[in-house]
Amino acid sequence: MKTKMITLCVNGKDHRFEAPVNRTLLQALRDDLKLTDTKYGCGTGECGGCTVLMDGKDNVCSCLTLAVEAEGRHITTVGGMTREGELHPIQIAFIELGAIQCGYCTPGMIMKTAGILADNPNPTEEEIRKGLDGNICRCTGYEKIVLAVRRASEMMDTAQTRKVGGMSA
Ligand code: FES
Ligand code: FES
Repeated sequence: MKTKMITLCVNGKDHRFEAPVNRTLLQALRDDLKLTDTKYGCGTGECGGCTVLMDGKDNVCSCLTLAVEAEGRHITTVGGMTREGELHPIQIAFIELGAIQCGYCTPGMIMKTAGILADNPNPTEEEIRKGLDGNICRCTGYEKIVLAVRRASEMMDTAQTRKVGGMSA
């Protein structure tokens, strides 16, 4: 397989590495860059566990995105949500509302929430449920996750606008 030098900007830091041209973004994050906060679930775009944020606003399944397609974009993973050791309001809301059980879906859920709120800072319950469609949780029954997204929206409304991936979110 042909290889290529790839530069990825992840959580504000540039990483340059050589990889096969068919390397997915998820493989690049986990295997090449050893950033294992983004989770491998199905590998086929069906569970949402691998969701990351592009340019602070666009959600993508990193298992369906080639690493070369992500060059030049700002990629944010859940590991990039904290600032100077402080949790992002979305992370705080998930913890406070008990929206985490085993935690395997949580990185994808947090990044999906960041995308939902970047697009619509004050979503209705229906909009939240629609936005989360495609992210599977085997543990929580979703109710607490929906409440956490709502709570995060309120917290971000009253707090300062936070920067995610170099963009407002
Ligand atoms: S691992 Fe990408 S959607 Fe399941
Ligand atoms: S908390 Fe276990 S899969 Fe969601």
